[in-house]
Amino acid sequence: MTPHITNSSEEARKGDVVSNSKDKGWFYSDIVKEHFFHPQNFMEDEAAYEDSAMGMVGSPACGDAMRVWIVVDPATEKITDMKWKTFGCGSAIASTSILSVMATENGGLTLSQARALRPQDIMERLGGLPARKVHCSVLGDKALRSAINDWYRRAGRHEDVQVEAGRIIDKILKITDHDIEEAVLDGATTLEAVQQKIKVGTGDTTCIPEVEQLIRFYREKYFGADSKK
Ligand code: FES
Repeated sequence: MTPHITNSSEEARKGDVVSNSKDKGWFYSDIVKEHFFHPQNFMEDEAAYEDSAMGMVGSPACGDAMRVWIVVDPATEKITDMKWKTFGCGSAIASTSILSVMATENGGLTLSQARALRPQDIMERLGGLPARKVHCSVLGDKALRSAINDWYRRAGRHEDVQVEAGRIIDKILKITDHDIEEAVLDGATTLEAVQQKIKVGTGDTTCIPEVEQLIRFYREKYFGADSKK
């Protein structure tokens, strides 16, 4: 028997997959679908690949992992090749596929150019992503930055390694800015929604103004300045 979908559950379902892009003709843009069905630079044979660096991250939001390998020309510090592998969803596959194209096209980005790539740059090239899938595009981006750090470490250039350390915002519950970032990436974009997820500011109320500021910052970073979310 076909399950009956009520209007309200249908609406809720649509809410999850509506595209952020201005052209809302389909849930996923053609570019997303193209990169999902035909991923570029997917790692086929790890053992045979001679990388210059490797980075790996996991997403606390969904439990998925991403691995990125890069080959860097030491003379120019350009990324001449990039491969990746993930347990993430279709959006993570499409995002990292296009990221690998962006990092290596036209002779490749330098390590500092690649480090400056923002999640919006990836989403722009993809023609938008559903709001609930924005965190998927961050996985490849973070793994690439972790690979760049690995390259600097292997080169003995520890002064160029950039580690994103968490800063404690809620002193009672020991909640960091990274925890707030993850909550926003997971779709909680108001104080109430973030508090429902991680309880920040429920014991130490003095941190609430800073929590609100961080929510605004991450909302703009991942969903764009004109986000109404
Ligand atoms: S990578 Fe986890 S839901 Fe997309």
